[in-house]
Amino acid sequence: MAGDDPTQSFLATEDGAASRRSDAKKQALVDARESGRPWCRIVLVLLASALVVGAGVGLGLYFGLSAGQRDQGDDTPVDAQTGAGNESPEPVAASPTASASGTDTSGGPYPKVTNGSLLEYRIVNKIPHDPGAFTQGILYYAPEDVFYTSNGEYGKSNLRKVSAKDGKVLQEHILESQYFAEGLALHKDKLYQLTWQKQTGFIYDRSSLTQVGTWSYRGQGWGLTTGTEGKVMYMSDGTDIIRHLDPQSPSLDVIKEVHAHSPGENRLDKLDQLNELEFIDGELWANKWYSNRIYCFDPDTGNVNSQIDLSGLVQAQREQNRHADVLNGIAYDETTGRVWVTGKRWDTIYEIETLGVKH
Ligand SMILES: *[C@@H]1O[C@H](CO)[C@@H](O)[C@H](O)[C@H]1NC(C)=O
Repeated sequence: MAGDDPTQSFLATEDGAASRRSDAKKQALVDARESGRPWCRIVLVLLASALVVGAGVGLGLYFGLSAGQRDQGDDTPVDAQTGAGNESPEPVAASPTASASGTDTSGGPYPKVTNGSLLEYRIVNKIPHDPGAFTQGILYYAPEDVFYTSNGEYGKSNLRKVSAKDGKVLQEHILESQYFAEGLALHKDKLYQLTWQKQTGFIYDRSSLTQVGTWSYRGQGWGLTTGTEGKVMYMSDGTDIIRHLDPQSPSLDVIKEVHAHSPGENRLDKLDQLNELEFIDGELWANKWYSNRIYCFDPDTGNVNSQIDLSGLVQAQREQNRHADVLNGIAYDETTGRVWVTGKRWDTIYEIETLGVKH
C-alpha cells in the first residue's frame, strides 16, 4: 500500500510498494503464533524459512526464479512465491505477512481484510490453456473437474468445456459471427453467457451446450457470476457498476445496482472498467480492464476489501507467450477453496493461493 491512508491513490498505483519494517516482521511472527489460524501457521513456516535463509540468499532466490520457471510440485512457499510488481520487485521470501489483528478468516480459507490491503499470493499449480482463446468468462464445475469458458472476438466467439486436468477442449459451441462472447455464469444447470454490445444473453443447457433461451439487457455485457445459493447473479458492464440480477426471473431483472469503490467512506475513487467476475466466499473478485490486479470487494456495499497484484504473473506469461493479452479470468472451486486465474490468449491457467496481507 502506498502511504497510511488506503483511500489515497488507491486505484492509481500499480506498484503496491510497501514499506517493509523489520519490527513489522517480528510483530507478524508474534501475531501469527498467537492466532493459531491455519494460514498463519503457513505464514509462520514462510517467515521461519525466510529468517533462516537470510535476506541475501532470499534475494538471490527471488531474482533467480521467474514465475514461468516454477513447476507444479514446488512445495516450499519461498520457491512458489511470486507477486512483486513490475516496477519494484521485492524479495517476497523475506516479506512479513499479516498481523492477525483485524483479519477474519471465519467462513473461508482466505485472509479477510476490509481496508483494501494488497494480499500476498503464491502459484500452486499450472494447467495448459488454449492461447487462441480470448478469455472473457471462466468458471469451475467440480462434479466433472472441468472449466466452462466463454471466449470472445467477432467470428471466433465460443462456449467451451475444458478439462481442469490438462486444459483440453472437451466440448464447444460456436456463436454466430455477429456476437462477441463475454461473461459466463452457471445457475441451476444452465449456463448464462453475455455478449459485449448486442444486449443479448444466451442460456444453454450445461451438459449439451445447446442454446435453450435468451434474455436481453441494456448497456454492455462484460462479467457475470452467480452468488450465494444461486439467489442472485452479478453483472459488470465496463463501468464501476455491479448489477444484482434475479436469476429466477425470465428476463434476469435488475434488483439493484452497486458502485464499486475504494475502501472506507471516500467514494471518490471509483473502481471502474470492471470485467470478469467471480463470487468467492461472500466477495466479488473482479478483473479490471488493463489492470494487473484483482479487486476483492463486498457485492452489497461495493467496498474494496483487498487486492491482489498479479504483475509478476502477467510478466511471466508475457515472457513465455508473446501473444498474451491482459489478465482476465477468475475461477473458484467452492468445494476445495481453489482459485484459478488466466488471461486473454494466455497459454496457462494458474492456480493461486492468497496468503496474507502484503507489507
Ligand atoms: C489493513 O488491515 C490489516 C489487518 O488488520 C493490516 O495488517 C494492514 O496493515 C492494514 N493496512 C492498512 C493500509 O491500513
